Amino acid sequence: MKAIVVGTGYVGLVTGACLADTGVHVSCIDIDERKINMLKGERLPIYETGLEEIVRRNMKKGRLEFGTSLAEFLQGAEVIFIAVGTPPDEDGSANLRHVLAVATAIGEALQDYAVVVTKSTVPVGTSAKVKAFIAAAMDKRGRKISFDVASNPEFLKEGAAVQDFLSPDRIVIGTDSMRARNVLDQLYKPFQLNRYRIIHMDIASAEMTKYAANAMLAARISFMNDMANLCEFVDADINQVRNGIGADPRIGSKFLYPGVGYGGSCFPKDVKALIHTGKYYGHRLRLLEAVEAINEDQKQVLFKKLLYFLDNDLEGKQIAIWGLAFKPNTDDMREAPALTIIEALIKAGAGVRAYDPMATGEARKQIAADVIYAQNEYEAVDGADALMLLTEWPEFRLPDWKRVKRLMQLPLVLDGRNIYNPQQLRSLGFVYHGIGTKN
Ligand code: UGA
Repeated sequence: MKAIVVGTGYVGLVTGACLADTGVHVSCIDIDERKINMLKGERLPIYETGLEEIVRRNMKKGRLEFGTSLAEFLQGAEVIFIAVGTPPDEDGSANLRHVLAVATAIGEALQDYAVVVTKSTVPVGTSAKVKAFIAAAMDKRGRKISFDVASNPEFLKEGAAVQDFLSPDRIVIGTDSMRARNVLDQLYKPFQLNRYRIIHMDIASAEMTKYAANAMLAARISFMNDMANLCEFVDADINQVRNGIGADPRIGSKFLYPGVGYGGSCFPKDVKALIHTGKYYGHRLRLLEAVEAINEDQKQVLFKKLLYFLDNDLEGKQIAIWGLAFKPNTDDMREAPALTIIEALIKAGAGVRAYDPMATGEARKQIAADVIYAQNEYEAVDGADALMLLTEWPEFRLPDWKRVKRLMQLPLVLDGRNIYNPQQLRSLGFVYHGIGTKN
């Protein structure tokens, strides 16, 4: 089988490489020549656990190739994935410029039947637009080739994308023709393993499934953050509450961790886009509006605690930050709560010394302010008046606390992910505060 993947971001590249690993011949296309040249030289433009090895292996086998021109690789391809970016417009709606440009390019160059699959996260109704753009380009060219469109949203988590792709919870396939359904069934057969994981549905429902899943997960996080903040008023402990409610299988124990707010390239963007879709149809999504508002406030919670402990005066104070990326095991800084927190710190006159195992390079690009980037966690706390833990990297879990205390000016630890044991830290002489943990 032959497939094309347009867009070599983390979705496109993971999809292409993992499909190639099942023996499919995959051509990955991107208009960004710099990216394609890097990939041709076996260098990856993004970091994703395990991806480099799969890319290299399949390139060596000749099953994975890269290029900038779609037309050049179309011959014999039965499936074409669109996995390009959909950046949010100012009003929160997903910008479909790139997706529709690919549709036009397909319409201009297609020679034989193919299924055009939208993998980018796109609003309901986009596959219909893709179909119209392909047909319009064919009309212009004066050649009608038969094709189908389909929606096949991805549910990958950054940092675990390869693993998620290779053993998915489910594969959602939205089609409106048996032919397209059969082609995609064949392509995904190797991933079915023991459990039947393919869920077929119509195209609009598949598009909606992706947004509903992310919106539900984001809602869980905002709910837990809201509960955590209330716990502090009533002297309850959110960790105990979390264990108590998570034991109910209808609730489940996953994704119930309060923190400094959700970030990344998916939740903030998708929640905004869904709110926008609702508005478009005159149906206000009030729950999601609250989810978003709570998340914005949550990014300030740790900063407000700091103000409280340092008597509202951060002028000239040195604040250490452990963790910059929006979550561990990635260098991604998009919508990372660290950006909001650092901005607030600098504005209040504080100095920031930050350490992240992987995201320092990205942070330098995104933070204009004067931040000192430390080489390790101990250098970051040297002389600090407070330590803020923002990303729960494994290597921050068991630091040498005695050494940390010796280095700090003031032994104040604000734990934005509740990874430390309050009693242990207090017994070592730290002032400790988490998110919704007992004082
Ligand atoms: C998310 C979804 O989890 C994936 O299923 C989805 O495919 C992906 O978006 C996407 O749409 O492409 P991702 O953004 O990579 O994946 O990261 P998550 O692990 O979901 O974390 C998102 C944010 O929520 C992080 O900032 C994390 O710190 C926060 N979070 C997560 C919490 O604050 N509490 C939790 O209990 C879980």
